[in-house]
Amino acid sequence: MAVSTQMEPLRLTVIVDLYERVRAQTMRIVDPLETEDYVIQTAEFMSPPRWHIGHTSWFFETVLQACKPNYCVYSEDFLFYFNSYYEGFGARIERPKRGTRSRPTVRETVAYRQRIDELMLEFIRSLETHPQATLVLSLIRLGLEHEMQHQELLVYDIKHLLADLYQPQIKPMPPSAPNVEGMAEVEGGLFWLGYGRELSGDGFSKNYEFAFDNEKPAHQVFLQDFAIDRALVTNGDFLEFIRDGAYQDYRWWFSEGWETLNREGWQAPLYWENQDGQWLIRDFQGVSPAESKANEPVYHVSFYEASAFAKWAGKRLPTEAEWEKAACLSGTGTQRTAFPWGSGEVNFERANLFENSHWGVVPVGGLLDGANGSGCQQLIGDVWEWTSSDYVPYPGFKSEFDEYNDKWFVNQKVLRGGSFATPQLHIRSTYRNFFHANERWMISGFRCARDV
Ligand SMILES: [Fe+2]
Repeated sequence: MAVSTQMEPLRLTVIVDLYERVRAQTMRIVDPLETEDYVIQTAEFMSPPRWHIGHTSWFFETVLQACKPNYCVYSEDFLFYFNSYYEGFGARIERPKRGTRSRPTVRETVAYRQRIDELMLEFIRSLETHPQATLVLSLIRLGLEHEMQHQELLVYDIKHLLADLYQPQIKPMPPSAPNVEGMAEVEGGLFWLGYGRELSGDGFSKNYEFAFDNEKPAHQVFLQDFAIDRALVTNGDFLEFIRDGAYQDYRWWFSEGWETLNREGWQAPLYWENQDGQWLIRDFQGVSPAESKANEPVYHVSFYEASAFAKWAGKRLPTEAEWEKAACLSGTGTQRTAFPWGSGEVNFERANLFENSHWGVVPVGGLLDGANGSGCQQLIGDVWEWTSSDYVPYPGFKSEFDEYNDKWFVNQKVLRGGSFATPQLHIRSTYRNFFHANERWMISGFRCARDV
């Protein structure tokens, strides 16, 4: 298929610009690291930073291999070390062993990254005459969205590796905010769940230029009337749960959760430390009494902990359809919009995402401009929110890229809304993240719902 020479130069400039911005942002995240930090693996579930910066380049090298005529691979060893889980791309190192090697070195990995960037930029600029330019551009956009996912994973992994020893430029939080209380009642009925351009509201947000295949197709679901918390569950709320003996009380827990809690010795969320009977929270800012952060959303909780809290509180977690409806209800709620605040673009006042550079959560009520029409706050940004929904394909799902989303549709739960480590361009109300019920090293929090 020939590509229009009238339109393509403009699109190519846009993709070159996006490519350069996204690739540079990854390197800004690792910039405060010392060389030794890049190669250490502190848990089986995390990856050394060196691996992330190589793997995101490996992803673009697979595009070059598939689409650039006569492309010669950079290094067979690198293909082995930097492949993540793709069976279709050959043998790879096992994930828990990514930190057992000192080669490729950090210097070699950065050189690999720079070489892939040179080749990619040259390749993008040559696409005007490529017979499959549209397909290639969609793969490049996927590669950039993939890189944004890894930027967020880098934040999780660097926190596990260094916590407050990592010293990025942290911007101050917005001033303290009014209390946000109660639950919003939402009318049920038929609801269009999922991604469709026509559903993203009257204005078109750039965050809806792209969506993953797992957000499609939009389809109707029936919802009962429900109520959903206006605020995220806070550290203060969670302290009450802990002090009520909930980690020692099987009644609140799913059987699997209870087993996990006992096996792992959980007594509080990850990164909470008990010192002489007082709970402290360690984060990028340092160590603080949990009491001093009582008004901040709790995070680093597993699905098991979120579900147990909801049961203890006499509530439940929302389904992903309920969550999405709340996140698309601006104004009177009669018309669906792209975001809780309407169809305007994401900005610093509406959502706490990576570019806000807080490296932490904003206190409840700190971002009033991001509320939906019923006063639900912080639906977008701050913490990924656990839902009760299983991560399964929507009816009519068609895989757009082998082994990307389609092979994970079993035994995981859906989280919604993005976190303070999610890049601003990367989030939509329809975005479906997914993790296992026991995982909690990611920025995972929640709000509750109930039947009405
Ligand atoms: Fe990946």
